[in-house]
Amino acid sequence: MSGIERILVVGSGTMGSQIGLVAALAGYDTTVQDISEPMLAKAKAELSARMDTSVAKGRLTVAEAEAALGRLFFSTDLESAAARADFVIEAATERLDVKEQIFARIGQLAPEHAILATNSSTLGSSKVAAATGRADRVCNMHFFNPALVMKCVEVVRHEATSQATVETTLELARRFGKEPVLINREIPGFIANRLMGAVQKEALALAAAGIASKEDIDTTARTALGHPMGPFELMDMVGLDVIDFIAQATYAETGDEADRPDPQVAALVAEGKLGRKSGQGWYSY
Ligand code: CAA
Repeated sequence: MSGIERILVVGSGTMGSQIGLVAALAGYDTTVQDISEPMLAKAKAELSARMDTSVAKGRLTVAEAEAALGRLFFSTDLESAAARADFVIEAATERLDVKEQIFARIGQLAPEHAILATNSSTLGSSKVAAATGRADRVCNMHFFNPALVMKCVEVVRHEATSQATVETTLELARRFGKEPVLINREIPGFIANRLMGAVQKEALALAAAGIASKEDIDTTARTALGHPMGPFELMDMVGLDVIDFIAQATYAETGDEADRPDPQVAALVAEGKLGRKSGQGWYSY
């Protein structure tokens, strides 16, 4: 896309690292930045392993995988990465104070033309836009887990987001090989998490009432509805802490009793059972 050559992804967790590889695979010179060296090292190792698997499965040639990894840089230096970025995707911790700080710094460091997007699923970009001094070039660009695979990207505009920012972000998502959707107004959960939340809520209620086991509810979602995973399996993949956080943020914003976080999920989180990443959630791994 004209004007966009270099991409900065802030945060090297599950989402940030895979978003970085998506951008590098699409041909962009990409830097994944994090304050933690060990996180960057872990991300680098995981992404290299993903590329090895893609080569082994015949999805990519060795040369394509090497070229993508050659375009992907890992750095703790926000200043120099932001100074060269044409487009920034923030995928750091889901905490407003952290994001505000990041956006304020990037607003100062990034070139004037750069668009600053947040991958947040819960915080609308209007919450960080003012800190950047360029609210018209700020929006949400929300990817799904696993970002290498899932086609959807929710592009969410806030009141001051310009049409040019929306169009550039949608086009970049297409260049990434994604199928972006546009959300014209900030609303808790955007589209996908509202849909996912509705299914999860019903699944949790059915299980809590002893009407069916979680296994049978998951099987039904797969075999009757064609979902790739059942709601309990999906919660474990996304992370029960993330599910609980999304619910808390939604409830804080809407105050609607129907959005109250589920106590079963909160109890698992309190026991350190976070899903796949901790080896135990609804299921054992
Ligand atoms: N990271 C990267 N790639 C992965 C992966 C991961 N964690 N898990 C699987 N894959 C890749 C595999 O390598 C494989 O790639 P190839 O086709 O190139 O070989 C492909 O995905 C399919 O994997 P599998 O054959 O092993 O397994 P599958 O067919 O069951 O697919 C799945 C796995 C893609 C995760 C599928 O089960 C699925 O679509 N699940 C639902 C995922 C979903 O709903 N995500 C949204 C979560 S909500 C969210 O992210 C928003 C939020 O704000 C919380």
